[in-house]
Amino acid sequence: MFDTIIKNVTIIDGTGAAPFTADIAITGQKIARIGAIDTAEAMQWVEGEGLALAPGFIDIHTHDDTNVIRFPECLPKVSQGVTTVIVGNCGISASPAVLAGDPPDPMNLLGERKDFVYPTLASYIEAVNDAQPAVNVGALIGHTTLRNQVMDDLLRTATPHEIIAMQALLDRAMSEGALGLSSGLAYASAKQANAEEVMQLAEVLAAHNGIYTTHMRTEFDAILEAMEEAFATGRHAKVPVVISHLKCAGAGNWGRTVEVLDAMETANQHQDVSCDCYPYSASSSTLDLSQVTDEIDIFITWSKAKPEFAGQLLADIADQMGIPLMEAAKALQPAGAVYHCMDEEDVKRVLTYRRTMVGSDGLPNDTHPHPRLWGTFPKVLGHYCRDHALFSLSEAVHKMTGMSAKRFNLLGRGEIKEGAFADLVLFNPDTIKDTATFENPISLAEGIEQVYVNGQLTYQQGSVSEKRSGIFLKRQ
Ligand code: ZN
Ligand code: CU
Repeated sequence: MFDTIIKNVTIIDGTGAAPFTADIAITGQKIARIGAIDTAEAMQWVEGEGLALAPGFIDIHTHDDTNVIRFPECLPKVSQGVTTVIVGNCGISASPAVLAGDPPDPMNLLGERKDFVYPTLASYIEAVNDAQPAVNVGALIGHTTLRNQVMDDLLRTATPHEIIAMQALLDRAMSEGALGLSSGLAYASAKQANAEEVMQLAEVLAAHNGIYTTHMRTEFDAILEAMEEAFATGRHAKVPVVISHLKCAGAGNWGRTVEVLDAMETANQHQDVSCDCYPYSASSSTLDLSQVTDEIDIFITWSKAKPEFAGQLLADIADQMGIPLMEAAKALQPAGAVYHCMDEEDVKRVLTYRRTMVGSDGLPNDTHPHPRLWGTFPKVLGHYCRDHALFSLSEAVHKMTGMSAKRFNLLGRGEIKEGAFADLVLFNPDTIKDTATFENPISLAEGIEQVYVNGQLTYQQGSVSEKRSGIFLKRQ
């Protein structure tokens, strides 16, 4: 007897192969059978006619580190069909971290001082499993977090002694089950780390089969140099590299994704490099004074000093305050921003690239978040795949499931096959749609019918079930 059968459903198996129609049975945590199955063989069944069934989406780029514990229903994620999140991106992770004061920028994207209570990855894993979030969680260790743990001043290069201390912390975290190391070299808190500092940390990864992901030193004019630094780090440490949220930022830089993707292809002849991308032409992070310009719209997502200005353009705020743009930006700090800094053609080109995976980079603690937090996966499937035919549905699903699971070595995930974990999303390919906008960013996607995590029905018709079944995924 099976637990659940989904009948007559179009299966998109996550490998990129063409869709096929079949019945599928779930028992316990796993997919038990795919084929023609009698409804009498199951405790319950669901009609899948006209719907698509894909492996649960894997959000490989998140900042949900403390949110999966504090808000374990994970509604922004599970409502898009996401069943696994990878935390610890852009150099910032919740572990190993104990803070002496307020979290430095951009660790403050993850929460407040009281939320950083995980001196080891093991203690973080325990907290995740205790909270039992609705989605599975895998973790990278952030370079900035390591720096903050061993250095008294982030605005300088680490000493040899400090590098050894960081290597030890990273090695321990890798032994405890981390997937790899992330860096955020564009941020002031890691900018003074030279390539050698990062390379020496990355050396720790190879023995553990780890991966190196990077928010590069720059996504503006010098992007090719920044990519070469990332590739060199991967070659030095003999580990795969994932470029985070690959983009060409800044008005003078538009159109250069042609060169950038060429560089990816050239590097791939000698080493393993890939990237993630979110489907929007605006970026978001903390409000970075070095990115303040009147060339693009900058929208304020939160401000600690002046919370009343969240949800307005920086230019309008400056007008109201009667001061120049830069002075207004300083007055809002610490703050968060959306930068309308990309060209739509560049976004499409990167999304379409054969080694691009989908990652939301959603910022779950922003008052007025970038819509990618609630809309990324349905936007790729609805807007870009169905409405603009950027790629086939099989390809789109592959970029958010099979390719991602393989890259991060998440065994038994990312593909629909017998014996795999039943992380599944049942959706309507004709109606799937993101509804989160820059004006109204907190809004449930349409067309997601059901989401299963480890065989458990987790999300249905707008609500998360009381029973959550996500687990921490240790590196395999
Ligand atoms: Zn980043
Ligand atoms: Cu990020």
